[in-house]
Amino acid sequence: NRRVTVRDILSAKERGERWPMLTAYDALTARVFDEAGIPVLLVGDSAAMVVYGYDSTLPVTVEDLLPLTAAVARATRRAMVVADLPFGSYQGSPEQALAAAARFMKEGHAQAVKLEGGHRVAAHVEALVAAGVPVMGHVGLTPQSVNTLGGYRVQGRGEEAGAALLADAKELERAGAFAVVLECVPADLAAHVTAQLSIPTIGIGAGPGTDAQVLVWQDMAGLSPRTAKFVKTYADLNDTLTGAAKSFADEVVNGAFPDAAHSYS
Ligand code: KIV
Ligand code: NA
Repeated sequence: NRRVTVRDILSAKERGERWPMLTAYDALTARVFDEAGIPVLLVGDSAAMVVYGYDSTLPVTVEDLLPLTAAVARATRRAMVVADLPFGSYQGSPEQALAAAARFMKEGHAQAVKLEGGHRVAAHVEALVAAGVPVMGHVGLTPQSVNTLGGYRVQGRGEEAGAALLADAKELERAGAFAVVLECVPADLAAHVTAQLSIPTIGIGAGPGTDAQVLVWQDMAGLSPRTAKFVKTYADLNDTLTGAAKSFADEVVNGAFPDAAHSYS
């Protein structure tokens, strides 16, 4: 009963097997997803929104994400735990990236890290891989760059932008990344990039042609108030939890809870 490794991920691509990734930020849900057989769990900087209530990923820090990563690692046995490096913790230099990654591996017990960008972070990826840190890349819509992208919009549309995105993904592969997230890119471009790479692509809003798919778990489970077009909801946790909270409240007010069965004699 060992954890999923980078080698497992790479051999899945060789065998043409598709696989799922979900985000996780706490012990209880991480255990559920681990036992459901999700092979890779990402402690995303999307925690900025779904855990900490910010309206972008920019404010979240290494200190914010480390305890979440450690909780996910403690609660899982099989999944590979990937830690997102937050905005400002790695862009400065390969040395800064290694310092941040080392904290996520030593204190967060992650098995890999993810960072955003293509060519601009290639030297950072090389330094991490040389130090023994598996790196997942992330191109297309990179939310940490929302202020230079001018909003959350589809990336890689048009011949030039598509070629640039492919070049970025290839640069990550060359630098030693073991996988790359493609976020919000046209489906045909994502399929083309997937065919051109020997490392797996993980799509989010990138159509059916990638090797893997990732969703933020609260989006996937119907807990997020607003979701993008690419999100499919597989449960309605907002309704379920609202109903539970209302029933609890009603029974407290009318005295039905606690009854004898839920009391000590
Ligand atoms: O932070 C996150 O949840 C992510 C995934 C959506 C890829 O980066
Ligand atoms: Na992220």
